[in-house]
Amino acid sequence: MKMHELQEEIIRLKKETNTAILAHSYQAREIVEIADFTGDSYKLSVDAMNIDADNIIFCGVHFMAETAKMLSPQKRVFMPCKDAGCPMAEQMDADIISQLKAADPDRKVVAYVNATASLKAVCDVCVTSSSAVKIVKAMDCDKILFIPDCNLGDFVRRNVPEKDIKLLQGGCPVHASITETEALKAKAEHPDALFLVHPECVPKVTALADYVGSTSGIMDFAAKSDAKEFIIGTETSISEHLQYECPDKKFYPLSKNLVCRNMKLTTLPDVYNTLKGITTGEAFEILMDDKLIADARKCIDEMIRLGG
Ligand code: 13P
Ligand code: SF4
Repeated sequence: MKMHELQEEIIRLKKETNTAILAHSYQAREIVEIADFTGDSYKLSVDAMNIDADNIIFCGVHFMAETAKMLSPQKRVFMPCKDAGCPMAEQMDADIISQLKAADPDRKVVAYVNATASLKAVCDVCVTSSSAVKIVKAMDCDKILFIPDCNLGDFVRRNVPEKDIKLLQGGCPVHASITETEALKAKAEHPDALFLVHPECVPKVTALADYVGSTSGIMDFAAKSDAKEFIIGTETSISEHLQYECPDKKFYPLSKNLVCRNMKLTTLPDVYNTLKGITTGEAFEILMDDKLIADARKCIDEMIRLGG
């Protein structure tokens, strides 16, 4: 089947099975095109709550599909590729975080949404990269332990200096691999370009940026800006989507290494097979026990309450 035929077949099967497709913006163009909802992890969490469909197919990584399941437990949530995980989500152990909480009970634990459900279950509030600063500012508490991403945590600390924010050593292996030298080289090669960076990059890289923000923040900034050239300091797919959406502007990926292998595992044939598998029982479904959903959902609800 040619690509557009496969896309048409997917659109037909979506209707037949009453399925909505959510795709994170790091997904490939052909997947974004057949999705009902696209965006960063905060937007997709809110979308997941408001969807009118029996089934959700989540094109992204595991913690995102799990979050959608927690927010819409009455719906069936499927992933086209069961191996698509985020390594950062597995970096911290729920028992160790519980012990740290017990040792310092006045300090609230803020978890980046890139965390497993069992880790979320022991945290006080979740944040995403677009909502972290706003939520930490709004929290009724001055002492915070921010996990697992110390780079996003450092960005929050710089923007909320009035609070005592402790960090642990964790982060995104893709964004954190980008060095200050690479950033300076990209800026020297494109002196007229604005430099837009995701807060998962290390502080020496974000310090060089004209704008630091989430995936959607970067896309909105570039679309609305009067500037004509941009260096994009996040997953390379964002430069591709922006180039497609704003053909009169120029987008340069900060580095060819900014590729999230896990986000790239999902293909259009995987989405097609998942839609077929919903009826045959062969699709990979996110299944979670009710207690885990109830425990982990508290900190997602708190995120939506403070971030809304
Ligand atoms: P966003 O919050 O920008 O969607 O980021 C999610 C993510 O995994 C970035 O690496
Ligand atoms: Fe996880 Fe980094 Fe991939 Fe985002 S880019 S999903 S944080 S590994």
